[in-house]
Amino acid sequence: MKFSYVNPTQIHFGQGQIETVASSIPTTEKVLVIYGGGSIKSNGVYDQVAKALESHTWQEFSGVEPNTTKETLDKAVAIVKQDGIDYILAVGGGSVIDGSKYVAAAAKYDGEGWDILTGDHQVTDATPIGAILTLPATGSESNMGAVITKAETQDKLAFLAPAVQPKFAVLDPDVMKSLPEKQLINGIVDAWVHVCEQYLTLPTNAMVQDGYAETLLRSLKSLGEQFEQRDNDEWRANLMWSANQALNGLIGSGVPQDWATHMIGHELTALWHVDHARSLAIVQPSLLRNQLQYKRAKLEQMGVNVFGLDKSEDLAERTIYAIEQFYLQLNVPTKLTEHGSDKAAAIDAVIDQLTQHGMVVLGENQSITLEKSREILTEAIA
Ligand code: NZQ
Ligand code: ZN
Repeated sequence: MKFSYVNPTQIHFGQGQIETVASSIPTTEKVLVIYGGGSIKSNGVYDQVAKALESHTWQEFSGVEPNTTKETLDKAVAIVKQDGIDYILAVGGGSVIDGSKYVAAAAKYDGEGWDILTGDHQVTDATPIGAILTLPATGSESNMGAVITKAETQDKLAFLAPAVQPKFAVLDPDVMKSLPEKQLINGIVDAWVHVCEQYLTLPTNAMVQDGYAETLLRSLKSLGEQFEQRDNDEWRANLMWSANQALNGLIGSGVPQDWATHMIGHELTALWHVDHARSLAIVQPSLLRNQLQYKRAKLEQMGVNVFGLDKSEDLAERTIYAIEQFYLQLNVPTKLTEHGSDKAAAIDAVIDQLTQHGMVVLGENQSITLEKSREILTEAIA
């Protein structure tokens, strides 16, 4: 175990905390508020933001779409450059916060913004960002990652840079009251898979990381099982905090990480617009079965410590089954159907995209070759 760890994002958690934005951004800063398709206008969040920014000079950019595209975001980059914006306030879910990270980095770069995603430009400077989270799922509000789509070529790629990590994040669970059921479920599933990507690898006896990962998984499992009781303050607060802790860098410190489910899942979203979380539920069970020889010990540990299963020869297999049942109980499918009827063409399309994106060996052991990805997709695509 060897690592350096810092999480510099100040979290303001709880009801009414949006007002802290007033003092979190200096009044000398010119602010650009970035948001999505308008949910914040109908649920009162926009009004709270406007009130908090009463003493600031600010303007807005709206229309950031789910699985946000560089084509849309480049319009915001131009505004930040032209209008001399000093601070970005992202108000939304993962797409808005990720999009704001791209805008913040591209605004400090004279070249083509997409270079950031291809790795041709290494981000070292960015406009400071604050975030008001409206959809707990991605953890983007207090991490340094962003996933951006280039619509023109159906590329969905990620970048990581400490410079784009939000300076502060407001997590007020009340904003979740307007979330459609589907997005609440997506949040549970995305956070769940984030923990799995950092936990279901090989045993390293990292007692703190494993123990906290299991606590998060048990919490998410309970929230899923109590989904009928979701309209209460504790349920919302627990999901918001679980999803944040699942991907803020802590449980992944000093342990092997996988992320193959995400890399393959991103291609399903790029090609067929499958919701991010749903792409993960489609890929993960097939991937775990495919990689059982490497993941058996951790699957057994998860079976006992998260699902309370008894020990047996086939404990790892039963754990994968339990994960799959968890998704199905939430009405989240574990097979892709969005591709239409030509399964062979769909598999080829994903393999082509993975090849183009250099995703030719994936997973904590680098054991998911294109051939293995093909096997996984053969199981995951209906
Ligand atoms: O655009 P609006 O009108 O706000 O509507 C959004 C959007 O349609 C709606 N919504 C958000 N908050 C709401 C609300 N509706 C009602 N009430 C509210 N309070 O929800 C819809 C989906 O929003 P989106 O931001 O797309 O969802 P999510 O948070 O799941 O983000 C997904 C994106 O994050 C990336 C994904 O790839 C995907 O592009 N990820 C980012 C990660 C990171 N930065 O660390 C890691 C993740 O693994 C993931 O890859
Ligand atoms: Zn995710």
